[in-house]
Amino acid sequence: MRPLKIGDLEIKIPIIQGGMGVAISLSGLASAVANQGGIGVISAAGIGMREPGFEKNLRQANRNALIREIQTARKKSNGVIGVNLMVALSDYDELLKIAVEEKVDLVFMGAGLPLKLPEFVFEQGFENIHTKFVPKVSSAKAAKLVFQYWHQKFNHIPDAVVVEGPLAGGHLGFSMKELTENPVPLSELIKETVAAMIPFEELYHKSIPVIAAGGIYTGSDIVSIFEAGAKAVKMGTRFVATHECDADLAFKESYLNSIKEDILLINSPVGLPGRVINSDFVQQIKRGETKPFKCPWKCLKNCDYKQVPYCISKVLLNSAQGKMDIGFAFAGANAFRVNKIVSVKELFDELISEYEHALELKKHQNSFASAIRIAV
Ligand SMILES: Cc1cc2nc3c(=O)[nH]c(=O)nc-3n(C[C@H](O)[C@H](O)[C@H](O)COP(=O)(O)O)c2cc1C
Repeated sequence: MRPLKIGDLEIKIPIIQGGMGVAISLSGLASAVANQGGIGVISAAGIGMREPGFEKNLRQANRNALIREIQTARKKSNGVIGVNLMVALSDYDELLKIAVEEKVDLVFMGAGLPLKLPEFVFEQGFENIHTKFVPKVSSAKAAKLVFQYWHQKFNHIPDAVVVEGPLAGGHLGFSMKELTENPVPLSELIKETVAAMIPFEELYHKSIPVIAAGGIYTGSDIVSIFEAGAKAVKMGTRFVATHECDADLAFKESYLNSIKEDILLINSPVGLPGRVINSDFVQQIKRGETKPFKCPWKCLKNCDYKQVPYCISKVLLNSAQGKMDIGFAFAGANAFRVNKIVSVKELFDELISEYEHALELKKHQNSFASAIRIAV
């Protein structure tokens, strides 16, 4: 595989582990991925919820936990480390500042369009910031909107862009209708986004790598999506079933035990569809049962915490801690294909060897096809 270049940052293997909250991808998984030459990503969503006394001051708990996880990942790896930040988080600005101060290599900004940037970025100046900014979007239109906005307002553009298609796990940037009726293939989204980036690449004399996410499962999938123009892949589901993934074994086993029919879409209380693995708890939620809770702090800007039937952050944390009777597992559409837990190294080895094999096969097919053309 060709290394991924994002500005002056070179990533040996163009595989990015998607940030997964709550507490699914922390320093353990991120450092293991970085050690294999990919990008390991710590998810900042609800990161402080496991800290003692978080109910009293979740803002402080989030801060402490994010600093600790970044520093721990750095101790365990000299590789490339990123942080995934949801724009929808109430303390998004603060956590972004921490990620920049801790000099993480990249920040992935999803769950909302990262149009605005906190003041410290301008005080410090883009040129003095080590961290690369990478928005996550679900369409070429959204990518264009973010790049246009940054260009006009900040005279600067993001360093790369992730396009996440309809097969991804977690919250999805599509309506339920878009997901269920003729979902647009990821390859189309990639082609459109690559084309939409050309004017910005010309304007800024730099390349803007388009990164593909959602439903990528094998090395052969990577070959296909690279053919559509992606320069790297961001994978979540595959990394859940690794020994190094920070979730409890019961969470990983829910992937192993699932069948195709278990992978369901639900309406999350934050107003977005989410993909989950079916369970008794999911059925209770689907029936409209409520799970009363006390909200110590409104962690998501747009959460109507007095009205929502349950706390999404708490439910996700419960599942990460293996309490599957009071939580559900977010998962990509391919989660049912997972049948064993492997090490991150084994996963990388498998993906790379599948990739090389699929590439070789393509080359043979192409030369066979041209030989036939010449003969005819
Ligand atoms: C368990 C789980 C939790 C996730 N949590 C988040 C999250 O907190 N924020 C986010 O932006 N994306 C989240 N995602 C999306 C992943 O980062 C990644 O983009 C996506 O899973 C890619 O699709 P795949 O799972 O088919 O590989 C999550 C995905 C999974 C499977």
